[in-house]
Amino acid sequence: MNYEKFYADRVKPMKGSAIREMFKRMADPAIISLAGGNPASELFPGKELAEIARNILIENPVGALQYGTTDGLPAMRECAASRAKKVNAIKDSDQVLIMTGANQGIDLTAKALINKGDKIIVESPSFIGSLNAFRTYECELVGVKVEDDGMDMDELENALKNNDNVKMIYTIPTFQNPTGVTMSLEKRKKMIELANRYDVIILEDNPYGDLRFKGEDVATIKSLDTDGRVIYAGSFSKILSPGMRLGYLVGSPEILGKVEILKQVNDVHTPVLTQMMCVEFMKKYNIDEYIERNRELYGRKCAVMLESIEKYFLENRVKWTVPDGGIFMWCECPDIEDITPVVDKALEKKVAIVPGSNFAIDMKAPSNMFRLNYSSATPEKLEEGIRRLGEALSEVLQ
Ligand SMILES: Cc1ncc(COP(=O)(O)O)c(C=O)c1O
Repeated sequence: MNYEKFYADRVKPMKGSAIREMFKRMADPAIISLAGGNPASELFPGKELAEIARNILIENPVGALQYGTTDGLPAMRECAASRAKKVNAIKDSDQVLIMTGANQGIDLTAKALINKGDKIIVESPSFIGSLNAFRTYECELVGVKVEDDGMDMDELENALKNNDNVKMIYTIPTFQNPTGVTMSLEKRKKMIELANRYDVIILEDNPYGDLRFKGEDVATIKSLDTDGRVIYAGSFSKILSPGMRLGYLVGSPEILGKVEILKQVNDVHTPVLTQMMCVEFMKKYNIDEYIERNRELYGRKCAVMLESIEKYFLENRVKWTVPDGGIFMWCECPDIEDITPVVDKALEKKVAIVPGSNFAIDMKAPSNMFRLNYSSATPEKLEEGIRRLGEALSEVLQ
């Protein structure tokens, strides 16, 4: 049967994430993956969470297994608010909504705000999950290049000046996915000033903010907002567990009220059991200590990757970013136009990386960039993966 005629026009051109596709090919255990975005699993508090889940299901089975409220358990909202408070990303007047991952928060914010033909300004490159969510609302994505200290503010100003119907700026200002870059305080202030001047919403996505292993924290954009125009998306995926699917939005009750209605339609509520598990985990253990161990591990792994890059990549033929936190770095090969032969050669050598086109506004245009992840593999595998990738780069570039 030919199903093509049944698909909605807006869905027809959509492709699954090449990263997920790559995961399918990566069933081979010999492959070293520098491709995904998984947090380190060696630190997952499995035993602690197993005991917590068992106690919840024995002591309060109805609470855990019955339908819950759309905005989330009050105690879970408190947990999310406590994380947002740490980075001044919440005001007394703000609402907190528990979402099924920050992903859902980003998707439903766009669903609440974006009409067909509206424009969203995004970093170029940016997180494929959000770009794909925005694409489903038939908006136009306007890319603004990312510099070593975040989005180019002159380009942002021009984009706001020269485009009608810009509704929103979407930004990942801290340890950006995919570049690992952090936006400077000056640029954050400038972004707020521009958003105020051109009257647009800012969606600040901050799943990696807690994972700093070097340098000083920079104020969140939400903390600089005086107009109530910043919606802040947070996540427990990178500080506790992505499989628990716990994220949150903080922002004006007017906008979040609309998002809440959409969430009711979408999945009624985020699973109550994982919300209760998170609440109990945060009561019983110090989550900041747990995060500290992750930071320390990521700092070490990032250092291994950087040392290996220095050792194995051809001198002056590859440029890379040096992150102060998070889980990604970004590489560019200025001498070539298309990174595909390197990605293929690396896969032959059983190492997986993600080509830059996945994070681009125009996914069909060739890219000479690629993303590296250092959180998931062991330090030994990181070095071996970079050694093999170095070989692949040498063979293609020379
Ligand atoms: C920038 C960015 N935003 C949002 C998410 C989604 O997070 P969650 O697991 O909370 O849905 C990710 C996950 O990789 C991400 O990298």
